[in-house]
Amino acid sequence: MEAMLRIRAALLLSALALLSLLVRSYSQEIQIANAERRIDLTSHIVKVFLTLKVENVGTSPASEILLAFPPSQVDHLALVKAAATVGKRKKKSYLSLDVIPTELPDAPNGTKYFSISLLNPLSTGETATLEVLYILTHSLEPFPAEISQSESQLVYYRDSALILSPYHIKKQTTFFKTPSSKLESFTRVEPTNHAGAELKYGPYENHPPYSFLPIILHFENNNPFAIVEELVREVEISHWGNLQITESYRLAHAGARHKGMFSRVEYQSRPSISGVSSFKHLLARLPPRVHSVYYRDEIGNISTSHLRTDPWKSELEIEPRYPLFGGWKATFVIGYGLPLEDFLFESPDGRRYLNFSFGCPLVETVVNKLTVKVALPEGAKDPSAVIPFPVEQHLEAKYSYLDIVGRTVVVLEKNNVVPEHNSPFQVYYNFNPIFMLAEPLMLTSVFFLLFIACLAYLHVDLSLRK
Ligand SMILES: *[C@@H]1O[C@H](CO)[C@@H](O)[C@H](O)[C@H]1NC(C)=O
Ligand SMILES: *[C@@H]1O[C@H](CO)[C@@H](O)[C@H](O)[C@H]1NC(C)=O
Ligand SMILES: *[C@@H]1O[C@H](CO)[C@@H](O)[C@H](O)[C@H]1NC(C)=O
Repeated sequence: MEAMLRIRAALLLSALALLSLLVRSYSQEIQIANAERRIDLTSHIVKVFLTLKVENVGTSPASEILLAFPPSQVDHLALVKAAATVGKRKKKSYLSLDVIPTELPDAPNGTKYFSISLLNPLSTGETATLEVLYILTHSLEPFPAEISQSESQLVYYRDSALILSPYHIKKQTTFFKTPSSKLESFTRVEPTNHAGAELKYGPYENHPPYSFLPIILHFENNNPFAIVEELVREVEISHWGNLQITESYRLAHAGARHKGMFSRVEYQSRPSISGVSSFKHLLARLPPRVHSVYYRDEIGNISTSHLRTDPWKSELEIEPRYPLFGGWKATFVIGYGLPLEDFLFESPDGRRYLNFSFGCPLVETVVNKLTVKVALPEGAKDPSAVIPFPVEQHLEAKYSYLDIVGRTVVVLEKNNVVPEHNSPFQVYYNFNPIFMLAEPLMLTSVFFLLFIACLAYLHVDLSLRK
């Protein structure tokens, strides 16, 4: 018995050893000949553009490339996209690649990975150029954490001077772009160069896998830190020709908290220096041909909104009742109607589908929690949603006036939504046109019953006379 156990343990150990060997050889097959990272810190949404020239220096073809992230960044990661560059110079084009989160058994210090699947395996000695975009939210920390109305907002950004990677990087450079040239301080890792609103780290040569060198940047950023803590978008399809949208927002200014008194006089008389990090306007990009737009909060309709429309887009500029300073919140509702024929189509297999934009119409905002509810017309069956990224999905039922059997509502939920998530999604369903008759039939029957009741009333003699 003991011998058996020992053999089993030995087998297990050798299997583990083989596995780790595989993992190791797997990462040593790839080397990064050149890496360039551009980090855009100009708004509160951090965008990182990474260009990697990868090289297969192993003996077997490689079909995937790994990206590594420190655990502190993974929680703030809203999106990771990758594309392969094909062709040179003028004829350059991009082919998008699949990126999926992956686990590796011996990840040092809790490193998290994403795996990029190459379209064609990279054979020995070959190189490929990959473009990666990833977006981080809630990654700028206001410091000082509280400012008064006359102060400008400063923030910290933490990262590594060296790109975290499971591969050896032969040469790398990182560029940071800040909103202004006002940089309070930054960690130096020679060569480091600061000119205007750009900060350059590197080039650094020959760094082994998992090299990491923490740095901190402290700079001015007065961009509106507009965060929608929660957004519920309700999309109601009526086969009578209208798509009704109702959006409920809970908006917050997530920048440095406002301290002291708020002086509206000072705010209005010296707008360039007073409350520079606050915001009073928001822009919502709505589809063209929008109609019956309203904007209200718990008090009632807000009249300070301006709608500009042209044949390609509509822009709604809204102004909350008071300017938003750090830590302040506002809740409001925007509603509008759209012509159904712009968004509802029939697929070749006879199903109907809604093609609408996911995400938040407000520009440059992060949505912590987004819920999109698509209320299908009465009688719609077998709904299915197609979204280009993972979301939580479930179905609900809803009854509104004149409904007989109720409507199916497709509910889609996603956390950490950025403007790049404003891509089209579809909800397919089966529909029997007989249901179109349900509402008019019900209306006519109600009127008919009413009519009968009136007739009966007029003919019944309620007098007590015999
Ligand atoms: C992992 O943690 C150890 C100990 O804290 C540290 O010395 C090392 O630099 C870390 N490595 C990375 C890649 O962060
Ligand atoms: C608000 O405006 C909308 C659209 O203009 C209108 O239908 C609604 O009755 C108004 N509500 C109030 C309370 O004024
Ligand atoms: C959905 O609409 C977008 C444009 O808004 C279009 O590019 C896309 O092809 C449409 N998708 C489907 C499945 O119809």
